[in-house]
Amino acid sequence: MKKTILITGWTGYIGSHAVVAFEQAGYTTVIVDNLSNSSEQVLSKIGKILGYIPDFHKADICDTKALDEVFSKHGFDGVIHFAGLKAVGESCEKPFLYYGNNILGSINLFEAMVRYKVRRIVFSSSATVYSSDNTLPLTESSKLGTTNPYGTSKLVIENVLQDLSLHASLQALPLRYFNPIGAHPSGHIGEKPNGVPNNLLPYILDVALWKREKVRVFWDDYPTIDGTGVRDYIDVNDLVDAHIAAYRKLEEISGDTNGSFTPVNIGTGRGTSVLEMIRMTEEATGKKVAFEKVGRRSWDLAEVYAWVDFAKEFLGWESEKTVKEGIESGWKFISGV
Ligand code: NAD
Ligand code: UFG
Repeated sequence: MKKTILITGWTGYIGSHAVVAFEQAGYTTVIVDNLSNSSEQVLSKIGKILGYIPDFHKADICDTKALDEVFSKHGFDGVIHFAGLKAVGESCEKPFLYYGNNILGSINLFEAMVRYKVRRIVFSSSATVYSSDNTLPLTESSKLGTTNPYGTSKLVIENVLQDLSLHASLQALPLRYFNPIGAHPSGHIGEKPNGVPNNLLPYILDVALWKREKVRVFWDDYPTIDGTGVRDYIDVNDLVDAHIAAYRKLEEISGDTNGSFTPVNIGTGRGTSVLEMIRMTEEATGKKVAFEKVGRRSWDLAEVYAWVDFAKEFLGWESEKTVKEGIESGWKFISGV
């Protein structure tokens, strides 16, 4: 029989790709989102890819009653938890919004899981849980520490999951994503932020599309290849495959009555600078991408990339797609060509 899993935050960028990937991998997904940073139109796009629309609940994970209704209706085998707010800058202006939505919402979800005896969870964590005081590449045992409320919300949720693995037998696999890019090969789903994009590639693609004039490069003469920030860009299609590998790992250890907590880095192990991203986008799209040099953001680090051997060893997963392929699929989605 097909297993039913709950996917929170599924209308969003990564969650929508995950719904498609889990359905295609033979799971039944039940999906929950409050549409705070997404649109119900994603439903029909997923329908175009799958040929049907999974069971959708418009619900907020902060609403315990709504969550209880969802859990009481379905016998979940496990949860893939994407729901959350993710803009670092906004989190500095509105810290309580982030603590409330991300931390309290997650605690409600975990409480429902424990009540309904659902033990498996894959959680969207982030490379922002690592302290700025580390040597590269970042490994799962690098020093933890955050500089903004968004990062703190992720680290607190990880800590709560660790507690619950010890005291409520949860089997938790936090995936620490580096920088997701790209879109589904169909061109139907991808990253469509509401308003001005916060992340680099959506902004660059908007400039290539002439929707915005110039990329503002947060430049600080960093000690990098060209003075701009270097990040580890991971293709969203590879990223959702990592979730499937992670869920299968949880299934493998399911006989174990003990809980578990195993964070895993999800990246490529390679860094790319802002200027390299701009040049690669120009090559991939044939469009000029204008940019200007502006000052640094307070939370930016010079260089961030992952040590990925543990993902290979523990999950049997490694990234396959190149940054160029991520830019090309992102462009196909955003430009429609
Ligand atoms: P997204 O904003 O596109 O998707 C998140 C979804 O969660 C949205 O559809 C939003 O409506 C929903 N949501 C937010 N609060 C909710 C609530 N209280 N109840 C129900 N639904 C709620 O973001 P994304 O890029 O798809 O990110 C998914 C997850 O991955 C997030 O937890 C994010 O923090 C994490 N993450 C993202 C990145 C990145 O760069 N995209 C990097 C590291 C980690
Ligand atoms: N950048 C620019 N101009 C922009 C946007 C970004 O120059 O308009 C630069 C940044 O300074 C950085 C790089 O591009 O060097 C990437 O910046 P992003 O904002 O795209 O990504 P971050 O690395 O700052 O953060 C992202 C997500 C977080 C997540 C983190 C994990 O926004 O949610 O990756 O590493 F936690």
